[in-house]
Amino acid sequence: MEKHDPLLRYGLFDAKVPRYTSYPPANHFQNDVGRRNQMKWLTSVEGNETVSIYIHIPFCKRLCWFCACRTQGTTTLRPVDAYVDILLKEIATVRAKLPDGITMGRLHLGGGTPTILSPETMTILLDKVFGAFAITEDFELSVEIDPTEASDELLQTLIDFGMNRASIGVQDFAPKVQDAIGRLQTLEQTNDVVKFLRNAGLKAINLDLLYGLPFQTRASFRETLAHVISMDPDRLAIYGYAHVPWMSKRQVLIKSETLPDTIERYELAAIANDLLLSVGYKAIGIDHFAKPTDSLYTADRTGQLKRNFQGYTDDQNKTLIGFGASAISHFSDGYQQNAVATSAYQDRVLTNGVAAHKGYEMSDNDKLIAAMIEELMCRFSYPTKDLRASFPKSEDQIRQTAVALMQHYIDVFKISGSGLVMQPETFPLVRIIANYIDLFTNKDTVHTAAI
Ligand SMILES: C[S@@+](CC[C@H](N)C(=O)[O-])C[C@H]1O[C@@H](n2cnc3c(N)ncnc32)[C@H](O)[C@@H]1O
Ligand code: SF4
Repeated sequence: MEKHDPLLRYGLFDAKVPRYTSYPPANHFQNDVGRRNQMKWLTSVEGNETVSIYIHIPFCKRLCWFCACRTQGTTTLRPVDAYVDILLKEIATVRAKLPDGITMGRLHLGGGTPTILSPETMTILLDKVFGAFAITEDFELSVEIDPTEASDELLQTLIDFGMNRASIGVQDFAPKVQDAIGRLQTLEQTNDVVKFLRNAGLKAINLDLLYGLPFQTRASFRETLAHVISMDPDRLAIYGYAHVPWMSKRQVLIKSETLPDTIERYELAAIANDLLLSVGYKAIGIDHFAKPTDSLYTADRTGQLKRNFQGYTDDQNKTLIGFGASAISHFSDGYQQNAVATSAYQDRVLTNGVAAHKGYEMSDNDKLIAAMIEELMCRFSYPTKDLRASFPKSEDQIRQTAVALMQHYIDVFKISGSGLVMQPETFPLVRIIANYIDLFTNKDTVHTAAI
């Protein structure tokens, strides 16, 4: 237990805290704020800006029991095609509000399962997006791919449209774990998709894994990691499984007594970390790993790593425009989220052309706390000098927060030339530390375990 001492002292194994993919976290968005501000924020995008686009596809052919993503099951493509029709309307309305000269630097298709679309429907959707937005030279098209639901024709369609990054869901290869999470996916299915994409020339492949799943053991997870390493991904996301059955009803099918305890979760994360570092990956932030050839690695090395709703990113664009049910847009002055339920989203678009509902308008102080939290989450540091340069009116608050952090987390921070830096063995505490300066901290809201 000794090696866990500082982590235990600061509550790592009990804390339920946000993942800070945004500040404030999305559960603090307020009704109607997105609707009221959407047009103002869209028209405030600068004429020559490069923006990022996210499109949410909230459908899957099977619903995995572990999954906390916003999605719904469907056995036919009828509701998917109808949904894409609505997406086309939303894209047209939003595009008309944006300045003519903007370009699209990133397009991410997420879900749910974007690869559920037929090649014909995907072509209609992407024709619309590329018709509406001119792309930059370094444009990136990334797509979340479920290997059990991705035909060669659909993958080829995506390649033909310029897909240059794929994110493939794996979770775990152990049959007993797959049985217990309701997601059967053979090694061959995953291998076949990776090979297809490599043969098509794709250079950037990410695999998603989870630790903390039912019946996962150190030995079984080592085996899963060995399979994954043999597939030679450029990047890996290894998330801690969030068991939140009160929020994600399908998780009631997973019995909590089959889950590893928090210390065991920590050990599983440590196994992944040690193994991946030993074969040449670099740990990025709290849950990503990248090869030296991957752009996330470069962003990390050059201090350009960012955090957004997909987790860690090298995307530097300040505006993100989300399309589809529950999709979130990020503007300089706030967040805007579309209606979450697919039916409510569709009704709003049919009536108004857009579907904004919740949102959050950022005050200057919110922007300061957001910058502090992004620095902690991305660089494990509190860069007093840089913060002062960006927020000159908040000098006192920046200094007081530094003092409070040093006093409260005495074994965690060391003073460096430009501010405070966390000691590497304390990195797992970063979400707890972010939560300490989070002004929205509310113990009644739903958050996930710190590891
Ligand atoms: C939209 S989902 C998966 C994309 C695709 N539909 C698939 O199944 O491969 C994106 C990722 O979220 C992660 N995820 C889903 N539910 C989670 C949970 N309860 N806790 C932590 N991560 C989760 C999984 O790693 C998953 O691959
Ligand atoms: S993991 Fe993927 S396929 Fe499974 S329910 Fe979630 S989004 Fe759908």
